[in-house]
Amino acid sequence: MPQLKAIVANRPEAHRRGPLAVNHLAEAARIMQEPATLQIQFQPVTESDLDTLRDWIGRPHWQQWWLAPDEEVSYIRSMIEGRDTTRPFIFHVGGEPMGYIQYRFIGDHQNADWFADHPWLADLPSDAVGVDLSIADASDLAKGIGSTVLAEFAQGLVTEGWRTIIIDPDPNNARAIRAYAKAGFRPIPALFGKTGDSLIMRYQPGTSEQP
Ligand SMILES: CC(C)(COP(=O)(O)OP(=O)(O)OC[C@H]1O[C@@H](n2cnc3c(N)ncnc32)[C@H](O)[C@@H]1OP(=O)(O)O)[C@@H](O)C(=O)NCCC(=O)NCCS
Repeated sequence: MPQLKAIVANRPEAHRRGPLAVNHLAEAARIMQEPATLQIQFQPVTESDLDTLRDWIGRPHWQQWWLAPDEEVSYIRSMIEGRDTTRPFIFHVGGEPMGYIQYRFIGDHQNADWFADHPWLADLPSDAVGVDLSIADASDLAKGIGSTVLAEFAQGLVTEGWRTIIIDPDPNNARAIRAYAKAGFRPIPALFGKTGDSLIMRYQPGTSEQP
């Protein structure tokens, strides 16, 4: 289980609100219930990261859940060039790039195009945000990194003022669901059975893991 020492999150000025997060050492250490020794940083994706991301996305443990690398990279390029409002980051642990995390504005997906395949989006508040993440190397899976990074990222969003933070793993992705529960996300019972190939979980730190 990794330990937390200091945490710094950065995001570009162009983002809608202030800095994503500054230092959530106390909260993250509380969540982990361990002494602080690990450093996590969130760096906004730039053009120079796209080849690395194409490599990561093509790996087997990503391809179980992500679209083809060129398609995903084209979406990320749209984000960094301003055609998609989703905010993409590389997360670094102990100074090393270890994975990708993004957050998207649910309100920007509450339209007829999205409702056609995802009608449950209409049941979420328009000011909700959704998070996605994956770890670069298969050798780093199930070591507590994903849940720690996600908890830190979500707490940063709370600090920014976001009140509804969701994540939508595939119900068959048991490792992801377990990691997200450890990070403080809980299934939304009102959406059970309505969301097809997604389990919608909401960030509710400090609550029981029972829905
Ligand atoms: C999803 C992901 C980000 C989670 O990060 P992580 O660092 O692996 O997660 P953590 O180690 O914090 O937690 C994983 C938990 O699942 C458990 N786990 C591992 N494999 C599991 C499995 N097959 N079934 C159930 N639980 C499993 C781990 O034991 C751990 O729980 P524990 O600490 O109670 O023992 C990471 O696994 C990942 O990138 N996976 C590949 C791509 C992916 O699925 N992305 C998300 C969907 S797009």
